[in-house]
Amino acid sequence: MSELIDPFGRKIDYLRISVTDRCDFRCTYCMDEDVSFLAREHILSLEEIVFVAQTFIAMGTKRIRITGGEPLVRKNILWAIEQIANTPGLDELTITTNGSQLAKMAPALYNAGVSRINISLDTLKAKRFYQLTRRDKFQQVIDGIESAAQLPFKRLKLNSVILKGRNDDEIYALAEFALSRGLDISYIEEMPLGIIHDHDRAATYMSSDDVIANLEQTYRLTPSTMKTGGPTRYYQVEGYQNRIGTISPHSHNFCDTCNRVRLTAEGRLLLCLGNEHSKDLKSLLRSHPNDHQLLRDGIIEALALKPQQHHFNLDETPQILRFMSATGG
Ligand code: 5AD
Ligand code: SF4
Repeated sequence: MSELIDPFGRKIDYLRISVTDRCDFRCTYCMDEDVSFLAREHILSLEEIVFVAQTFIAMGTKRIRITGGEPLVRKNILWAIEQIANTPGLDELTITTNGSQLAKMAPALYNAGVSRINISLDTLKAKRFYQLTRRDKFQQVIDGIESAAQLPFKRLKLNSVILKGRNDDEIYALAEFALSRGLDISYIEEMPLGIIHDHDRAATYMSSDDVIANLEQTYRLTPSTMKTGGPTRYYQVEGYQNRIGTISPHSHNFCDTCNRVRLTAEGRLLLCLGNEHSKDLKSLLRSHPNDHQLLRDGIIEALALKPQQHHFNLDETPQILRFMSATGG
């Protein structure tokens, strides 16, 4: 079995797939209210997505995460999830979701073979939820989390982006909500992806160290060696089974252990979240449908472009004009 190794010797065995750039929320740090989405013909079909995923698995990919936009708003997504999850060679299929569809879809996701789910939740206050997401779906998300928590998923994790002055007063409440339900939680530093009006990222930046200092007022935290394939650094919480983690693209650069690439909704293979290096796989797929070998060659060629690291700077105009929703978290 071939392995994908990048020019810096990093083994690439983790693929994140954005299955749609659409979303039923409009989180203020992610997109504008009147964002325009890609036309249907510009995004990969589910068959094309499964074909790319299976090619990666044949090249040694062990983990795949399905993301968006909001992946669960894509029609028939369960079909693609099931196809990918049941491909021999894959260790685990995970998804990242905003939780809005989980109340109705959690059992089907479990049956389709999803092992872990990351659910985005930045606040426990309905009014603030509306301010942050511009949608009135707080209760729907909470119900979704509760439904997923009833099922024997290997692991559920909340993802909370913490913004100073917006939700940093809820760091502890979010942890308590997660830990008391048997969920893990990761706190994320905001990344400068896409230009968003009415939102000053430098003013709301909060470092993971400040988040941890805040939590240490209540919990005893010990750094853990656990890794789940992503950039999260975990802490063991005394008295609890579950963990608290931080994702710190600014304060703790994690590029040296990067093991992943991303397939965007429009079929570009993106080599790094913080750089524009990418290769268009869609044109390969459409000019030569079902040609595994050509796609493999394209992927190997793309990997040569993987940059060594990202450089995020909050004080400058973002150099990255893509939004998270087009790229996948
Ligand atoms: N910086 C950091 N996290 C972001 N997310 C969306 N946009 C950004 C950003 N600019 C988060 C979502 C979700 C995950 C997929 O990425 O809140 O938890
Ligand atoms: Fe949708 Fe996620 Fe972006 Fe919020 S952060 S608008 S849930 S894609």
